[in-house]
Amino acid sequence: MKQKIIAMLKADGGYVSGEKMSQRLGVSRAAIWKNIKALKDDGYSIEAVTNKGYRLLQVSDVINEYEIKSGLKTDFIGQNVRFVYETDSTNNEAKRNFHMSDGAVFAAEIQNGGKGRLGKGWVSSEGDEIMMSVLLKPQITPAAASQITLVAGMAVCRALKEYGAVIKWPNDIVINGKKICGILTEMSAEIERVNYIVCGIGINVNTAAFPDEIADKATSIYAVTGIKVNRCSIMRRVLEEFEALYKTYTVSGFSPLINEYKTVCVNIGKNAEAVFSDGRTVHGIAVDVTETGELVIRTEDGDISVSSGEVSVSGIYGHM
Ligand code: BTN
Repeated sequence: MKQKIIAMLKADGGYVSGEKMSQRLGVSRAAIWKNIKALKDDGYSIEAVTNKGYRLLQVSDVINEYEIKSGLKTDFIGQNVRFVYETDSTNNEAKRNFHMSDGAVFAAEIQNGGKGRLGKGWVSSEGDEIMMSVLLKPQITPAAASQITLVAGMAVCRALKEYGAVIKWPNDIVINGKKICGILTEMSAEIERVNYIVCGIGINVNTAAFPDEIADKATSIYAVTGIKVNRCSIMRRVLEEFEALYKTYTVSGFSPLINEYKTVCVNIGKNAEAVFSDGRTVHGIAVDVTETGELVIRTEDGDISVSSGEVSVSGIYGHM
């Protein structure tokens, strides 16, 4: 019922009387009023004027299953959405629901245990950001899973292209040298076979101020443009780009995508310092990204390839 009311208000754009709604939807005016109240509680701004009716004041920046899917042009990614207002981590939410369909999307407004790469946390502010995870069930080997991370990074980069987004290997999305999006890919696998992959995407959309620790490293669409944007429309763009790239990847592998990846990857040709999880470091120039998603660093002792799971790379913009 709530979705039908929102659809009517959006389609009309102006005032829709309670009577018209109750006739169209075949329910009492009291039921309409009750649902309007529930929609307001969900965060929609709806004006009620006597003798005119109800009007949706703005395309409210509300995240829910209906808003994410409304107008989404995909075949399977995001066709099944589970939104929970608060969770520990949308990646965990996806893992707990791994039986759901390929391409299912899990989103939240608050993460109280958001996870970042290399065991770090991920802090986000309520109402301003995108926190979502895509459950994927590709027929690939565990070794190939890191490529999905690159595919996801490319999808976000395409979706945020108009704001000047580029990729810092492996998949930090950066604008003007500051991070706007982080991606955490997790996997359940057997020796030869991936059971499922969870690709968690965090995007700073309307964030006006960041905590002191990351204030000089983080940015948002709002910080770049001064304009607040609708988060679900950004989500849909990401999901649509993700599906297009993922379809190519699952049919033909990463090779048709590598050139585009390298074009938007800012590391190539720049200094690189890789810090391994055991504390070892190597210095050199980043010269390439391999088709398996490793960064090739030219050091005094020759080229070494580093994989995204084991290192943090700086050289440009520091360790983000
Ligand atoms: C990083 O750059 O360190 C990766 C950050 C990934 C954050 C996203 S937000 C949605 C999903 N859920 C999580 O707990 N993490 C990812």
